[in-house]
Amino acid sequence: MAVQPMTLLPPDLDPRRLPAHVAVIMDGNGRWAKERGKPRFFGHRQGVEAINDLVRCCKDWGVPILTVFAFSTENWGRPAEEVNFLMGLFHEVLQRELRAMVEEGVCLRFMGDFAPLPKALRDFIEESVQATAHNRAILFNVAMNYGGRREILQATQALARQVEQGALRVEQITEETFAHELYTGLLPDPDLLIRSSGESRLSNFLLWQSAYSELYVSQVFWPDFDRACFYQALKHYQSRNRRFGKLDSSPT
Ligand code: FPP
Repeated sequence: MAVQPMTLLPPDLDPRRLPAHVAVIMDGNGRWAKERGKPRFFGHRQGVEAINDLVRCCKDWGVPILTVFAFSTENWGRPAEEVNFLMGLFHEVLQRELRAMVEEGVCLRFMGDFAPLPKALRDFIEESVQATAHNRAILFNVAMNYGGRREILQATQALARQVEQGALRVEQITEETFAHELYTGLLPDPDLLIRSSGESRLSNFLLWQSAYSELYVSQVFWPDFDRACFYQALKHYQSRNRRFGKLDSSPT
């Protein structure tokens, strides 16, 4: 029997219990390339193809928000050659994909500290956010020079400043007001957080927002993460009983 391309939501997944927000730590590009005797860059290029298809898959299957970890505040510690390559790759991919994203209804957003990014990339980030701002088919949120601790510190400083200026009372600092100061703002927290390549660490990603996320570790290196892998992650998610610290409310 011919293998069916997974363009539609697989019938054994419940469309009413899909995660509203999926976050992904794309790990293993370098090891994927090494296994093939190729330079790390080769793995990053292939990783772009995997993310391109995952965005379309989320749209096809009805997952409305996808957040991916493209570059961390710690990634500057890699050799300059690799950092420069990644910056160029982000710019190149955005330029190449922008028209398709506009046409396919992808709303593109970025989060992180953009100040250290090359100016041409910062400008293109702004342009692509504006060009896709009204799209509603899927929200694709890219963490770029993102660090969870830095994000929490910046939110704390912003609130402290408001208190200092008399615009806010200390008692008004709640989980909600705090969350609004994070890069994710009003976005719902991720329901499902996927990490590829078998590592089970958060690596400073969405530290506040992932408090109740279901974690799913895929054994494959990121460039091999395809729709079948995403299906496995969603199967796992739908098999979980999310209690948010309370007792099981499902009928016995
Ligand atoms: C982790 O693999 C991957 C990265 C640090 C870069 C991820 C970026 C992409 C896949 C491109 C995405 C592009 C856009 C525009 C969203 P690694 O290098 O840490 O692999 P290793 O752990 O095997 O060394």
